[in-house]
Amino acid sequence: MKLNIALLAGDGIGPEVIAQAVKVVDAVAVKFGHEVSWTEGLTGAAAIDAVGEPYPDSTHEICLAADAVLFGAIGHPKYDNDPKATVRPEQGLLKMRKKLGLFANVRPTFTFPSLIDNSPLKRERIEGTDLIILRELTGGIYFGERGRKDDGNTAFDTCTYTREEIQRLAKLGFELALTRSKKLCCVDKANVLESSRLWRETVQNMEKDYPEVQVSYEFVDAVAMRLVQWPSSYDVIITENLFGDILTDEASVISGSMGLMPSASKGVHTSLYEPIHGSYPQAAGKDIANPLATVLSAAMMFEDAFGLKAEAEVIREVVNKSLAEGIVTEDLSGKEGKAYKTSEVGDWLAKNI
Ligand code: IPM
Ligand code: MN
Repeated sequence: MKLNIALLAGDGIGPEVIAQAVKVVDAVAVKFGHEVSWTEGLTGAAAIDAVGEPYPDSTHEICLAADAVLFGAIGHPKYDNDPKATVRPEQGLLKMRKKLGLFANVRPTFTFPSLIDNSPLKRERIEGTDLIILRELTGGIYFGERGRKDDGNTAFDTCTYTREEIQRLAKLGFELALTRSKKLCCVDKANVLESSRLWRETVQNMEKDYPEVQVSYEFVDAVAMRLVQWPSSYDVIITENLFGDILTDEASVISGSMGLMPSASKGVHTSLYEPIHGSYPQAAGKDIANPLATVLSAAMMFEDAFGLKAEAEVIREVVNKSLAEGIVTEDLSGKEGKAYKTSEVGDWLAKNI
């Protein structure tokens, strides 16, 4: 099969972790007889430095022409403490999501038995945790009307959702639940927000089409609490953009292996695969960042974008093997274990595939 993949390395540790995923994908392609064509595009601070824009049209064209996008990370500290900066790397991310129609962000949280004691939560709380948060990504307060009034002394941001936007996200949630434990939790703030009441009403109306799925409705504040009390009680969670942003960060640390968590953003025009960790600027260029989240994102890409399950499985197996044999970066090596470099982990994975 011919695999046309757009490669957006981005900022910080992005290029380093992406380079390892490329080694792994190329090795899988050789093993299974696929032909990969990589097309690189600029994003984030790297794109601002080069062309003054965090998501240039040239990059958009590359993504549109690709079957899937593999993405590293966006963000640079030089913009974080400058509230007056008019161009920011993160704008590139939002523009990319909107222009590619990446409406569904899939962020799984699962435990690796060998790493369970890395979690900030007690073992008995998290054992068996395997949940997926499906976050709406192109609507809500991120993209609603915003501005200032009263000579700049009053500010507003608006959360707007249409029934169609809710339906297309919820449909994926129901379908995903059918392939898993058939439990779906719709997270909102329907006791206060009108947009949440539309979410609840829309999802309730869809329940009759999925009689096998057991749906619960919970308020976001309660979920924030229960997620760290009993994460294993959740399976598929659907929610709007901002609630999803917050809950997925919370969920990402539960397993104690944030450097291992992949994600996918499914879209109208294409889909994008990226690690959930950010650009981690403190580690950039040091060859120490954990590449496994990006490698596992590539596994998601094989399965979801190309329907190649066996290829995805080979990647997951070799990642498990590297964990079992301690071929890991310093975040996972512990005090006694040897810390391998990012590039060494990538080489080992490719060789073992
Ligand atoms: C994320 C990030 C982005 C978001 C930022 C960088 C704009 O936090 O992907 O979760 O808020 O969506
Ligand atoms: Mn976030």
